[in-house]
Amino acid sequence: MTTNFVGQPTIRLKTVDSTNKYAANFMSLSEWSEGTAILSEHQTEGRGRKDKNWNSSAGENLLMSLMLKPNFLLAHEVFQLSMAMALAVGATVSSFGIDQVSVKWPNDIYVESKKIAGILIENQVRGQIVVSSIVGIGLNVNQINGLDDRATSFKKVLGNDLSVNVVFDQLCLELEKQYQTLRSNPLAILEDYNEGLYAKGIPRAYVFNEIQNAVLIGVERNGFARFSTSEGEKHYDIDSVRWVW
Ligand code: BTN
Repeated sequence: MTTNFVGQPTIRLKTVDSTNKYAANFMSLSEWSEGTAILSEHQTEGRGRKDKNWNSSAGENLLMSLMLKPNFLLAHEVFQLSMAMALAVGATVSSFGIDQVSVKWPNDIYVESKKIAGILIENQVRGQIVVSSIVGIGLNVNQINGLDDRATSFKKVLGNDLSVNVVFDQLCLELEKQYQTLRSNPLAILEDYNEGLYAKGIPRAYVFNEIQNAVLIGVERNGFARFSTSEGEKHYDIDSVRWVW
């Protein structure tokens, strides 16, 4: 089974500074079709959220950027794209027989309490419309050595190597499926995202202004999370909360 547009075409690179950066440059230089993907075996300056680096050992993991034109989304609704992409990565991980997959707000993919994938989305907004998005995905496939203590990979969980290309083909199918659902039924994306939310309903510590115990109740369309705290219910955006390990 193949996709209709995600991964068509796919530009395959041996090494690049960052697939997101390559995608941004590609978009600025030429006409491009929605679904174009950049897949690289290695990155020398892989980027994560909050100005962090994304390190990945050469040839072992999936590093990609997908170029989309989600012009059916308004700027204030753009978090829904993040939800859909996270669901697609989570579904890909589950489809290889891995249990206990969840999405940690905003869009880290976890297996039990360890991160297996991260997503960095960069949007271009014109007026109220999201004209283009670069969805950067780093998914740990065969790396065992040099992983952070709080990270995992397919190989760590399953015990065997997987072909990054096979994982990529499956990921493209899931990305297309969730993106189409986002277009036709965004409420389903919101519901599915909230259903599989990491730490939902479990009391734990968060840093708001100060460290505090709270229970994550759910995430809203705009990306704000609702917490139950000793001072009542509170809504926070991602920049106002830090997870405590
Ligand atoms: C995070 O969890 O902080 C997001 C990590 C995103 C990493 C991917 S790897 C492919 C793409 N290119 C980049 O430079 N970053 C994203």
